[in-house]
Amino acid sequence: MSDDLPRAAVIGWPVAHSRSPLIHGHWLKSLGIPGSYDRIAVPPEAADGFFRDFRSSGLTGANVTLPHKIRAASACAGLSEAARAMGAVNTLWWEGDRLLGDNTDAYGFLANLDQRLPGWSDAPATALVLGAGGAARAVVYGLVQRGFRVVVANRTAARTAELAALFPGAVAGDWAAAMAPDGDTTFVVNTTSLGMGGGPDLPIDLARLEPEAIVTDIVYTPVETGLLTRARAAGLRTVDGLGMLLHQAVPGFERWFGVRPEVTEDLRARVLDDIGAPA
Ligand code: ATR
Repeated sequence: MSDDLPRAAVIGWPVAHSRSPLIHGHWLKSLGIPGSYDRIAVPPEAADGFFRDFRSSGLTGANVTLPHKIRAASACAGLSEAARAMGAVNTLWWEGDRLLGDNTDAYGFLANLDQRLPGWSDAPATALVLGAGGAARAVVYGLVQRGFRVVVANRTAARTAELAALFPGAVAGDWAAAMAPDGDTTFVVNTTSLGMGGGPDLPIDLARLEPEAIVTDIVYTPVETGLLTRARAAGLRTVDGLGMLLHQAVPGFERWFGVRPEVTEDLRARVLDDIGAPA
């Protein structure tokens, strides 16, 4: 492959598990674009130097995953509004000789819902966000942008308060109370690791939610978490978390390779196959 073809990669530690090469590789191939997308493992002690000297990697741009999202942000000459609000980047690209950073997780979260449940945010009311890690930040940012009143609840209360304080439009809720939401809650999202790998489910009682309420999970291994199974059985609307992973990749691909790719059923089936779930 010639050196002037666009080259992107995902940077993380560990990075072997990342499904980004599968997603971008699918788009490169199906769109017939000459270019590449690789994995680069960068240990934490080498991360500052790597991002500072990003030019010498020869990359057109990159995705950044754990644990480097905050370090990468500090190496950027400019940040998108979302990246600034979250203090973390997952997408790097060049504008001339300036390295810029974006955080596309909130975009991915919203775009997935837009695709799976069109009109879902037309009458935003009260959203309950469970968890307070990095993913919760993106979800709260996105929901506030769409006009929801966001109640955040996390097992460790200090982290709840810290997250709620970052975003006007978000308030801190109590974890135990959040496990029994009432009919005012129209949207519930799990950003905790509960349910991952088929482990213990989020112990939330869904009985008082109205039938129009939406329950979504950002856990996508398995794609159908225990929470989503229970929500569907209760007659609620559900959206799984796989689409967030797929949609968050779109803006980076467009910046590096010049074409805006689509999240198709075909792509979803490829990734589902990799996860080992039925399509
Ligand atoms: P992220 O990848 O989103 O940054 P993280 O920082 O690892 O994730 O956070 C995982 C989330 O799952 C946290 O909100 C964590 O709650 P604590 O802050 O109290 O640790 C939540 N979590 C993990 N196990 C949990 C459990 N058994 N019950 C409730 N919440 C749990």
